[in-house]
Amino acid sequence: MKYKSQKVAYWFFALSMVLLILQIVYGFIMAFAHAGYDGLHEIIPFNTATATHKNLLVVWLLSGFMGAAYYIIPEESQRELVSVPLAKLQFWALAIVGVVAVAGFHVGWWEGRKFLEIPRFLDYLVVVDILLFLGIIFVTIFKGKEKTTTEMVLAMGLFFAALLYLPGMIWFDNQSVDSFFRWWVVHLWVEGVWELIMGGILAFLLIKLTGVDRELIEKWLYVIVGLTFLSGILGTGHHYYYIGVPEYWLMIGGIFSALEPLAFLGMALFAFAMYRKGEKNHPNKTALYWTLGAAIMSFAGAGLLGIAHTIPSVNMWTHGTLITAMHGHMAFWGAYAMMVFAIISYAMPLMTGRKLYNTAGSSYAFWLSNIGMIGMTTAFATAGVAQVYLERKVGMSFMEAQMAIEVHFWVLIASATLFTIGIIYYVINFFQHGMPTDEALVENID
Ligand code: HEM
Ligand code: HEM
Ligand SMILES: [Fe+2]
Repeated sequence: MKYKSQKVAYWFFALSMVLLILQIVYGFIMAFAHAGYDGLHEIIPFNTATATHKNLLVVWLLSGFMGAAYYIIPEESQRELVSVPLAKLQFWALAIVGVVAVAGFHVGWWEGRKFLEIPRFLDYLVVVDILLFLGIIFVTIFKGKEKTTTEMVLAMGLFFAALLYLPGMIWFDNQSVDSFFRWWVVHLWVEGVWELIMGGILAFLLIKLTGVDRELIEKWLYVIVGLTFLSGILGTGHHYYYIGVPEYWLMIGGIFSALEPLAFLGMALFAFAMYRKGEKNHPNKTALYWTLGAAIMSFAGAGLLGIAHTIPSVNMWTHGTLITAMHGHMAFWGAYAMMVFAIISYAMPLMTGRKLYNTAGSSYAFWLSNIGMIGMTTAFATAGVAQVYLERKVGMSFMEAQMAIEVHFWVLIASATLFTIGIIYYVINFFQHGMPTDEALVENID
């Protein structure tokens, strides 16, 4: 038996799709600017484009996580959400704040703190929206018949993500102190509590898609939570190397952040072990591909490409260059974007009754976007290595070096085009499902 209130997840997933397309548009604006064609400079200068690109990313991922929670929590708790009208209100508040924030970037209403550009006034609205969201989720859990480990890990991830938004809202006059606390949000999100969200969604999908016992899957989940906190909290030190804090951070950051890939390796091994053990008879292979794909690509993008520049003697040269963009793209894609795609691919056929998985379009979506993303990562990597060499070894000025590496951005544009074709296939497949219905939800089991 399914729960009718799960349908509200659809709105969050649809918002994710729309904002993702918009994010990609801004990615192309920047890629062309890097290649020497900054034609939109007067209307959308690079700083506006980059803030918009990154904030749209964060908003569509959060929207995807919220949709995932509204889908997963009723099923795990075995009851309806406590209030669908409030969940819809929360949805509209999120969408409106997101759109106002992004529009504001275009008229200079922003704070120049990477990833936290949203003005403080809007931050307060974000807080109200998130409190409403958490209220709905936690009251549902407490009134539910079951309190499973999977849902608790997901819910705790969401709760701590909200809590860690607050250090970014405090006002500091000192640049180093501001930077110190900015990382409590940015780093402790992606290398801490968002990993719990990822782990929770991953466990839910593996339980459904492989048929392996919940007890076994949830035991693994504890191991992953343990590894995440053990390495990720002090791993924050890899952002403190050269920002004006005491020198011991070099050692702490180097050692603990070098351990961080273990959590991602754990997730990849976990996903494949469960797949091999499972019965393999779930029909939705598309959802399985995205689930296993996320486990591999997150290890590659976050784990391997993270460790590639996390040691102080390397980071001294690569800090803040296109090497960071190389890692940022594949890490966000593998861990969070693909995990959102996995839960959407799993939930949409069940909510709408349309079994649009295992189609040619859904395969193109998976392969083109992933091959495109590998190409994009490679283009950023080659551009980044050249930038480090020219700017920091040879001593060219920033702009001279940027002009010398323009050619790499044509490779970026070509790969990003492949990537985008894949995404378009995905988004078309999403909207072809149509709207969710009560009949479909109640009839479809698993
Ligand atoms: C899914 C997980 C991850 C995501 C989404 C992610 C994403 C990012 C992003 C977007 C940045 C740029 C931040 C900024 O400049 O404001 C960054 C920086 C960095 N990340 Fe990650 N990351 C992840 C995991 C990791 C892991 C596991 C490691 C280490 C093993 C790592 C090492 C680094 C380092 C050293 C930097 C600083 C780069 C610099 O100095 O410019 N990351 N990451
Ligand atoms: C067609 C697709 C895309 C293109 C052409 C593109 C291009 C770019 C460019 C040119 C930058 C600026 C690099 C710089 O600092 O100079 C950038 C930044 C960034 N993009 Fe994308 N992007 C695309 C899609 C995505 C996707 C799907 C994600 C996440 C899953 C993403 C995540 C990021 C992040 C995290 C940054 C900041 C990197 C950093 O901290 O250095 N982008 N993108
Ligand atoms: Fe970090």
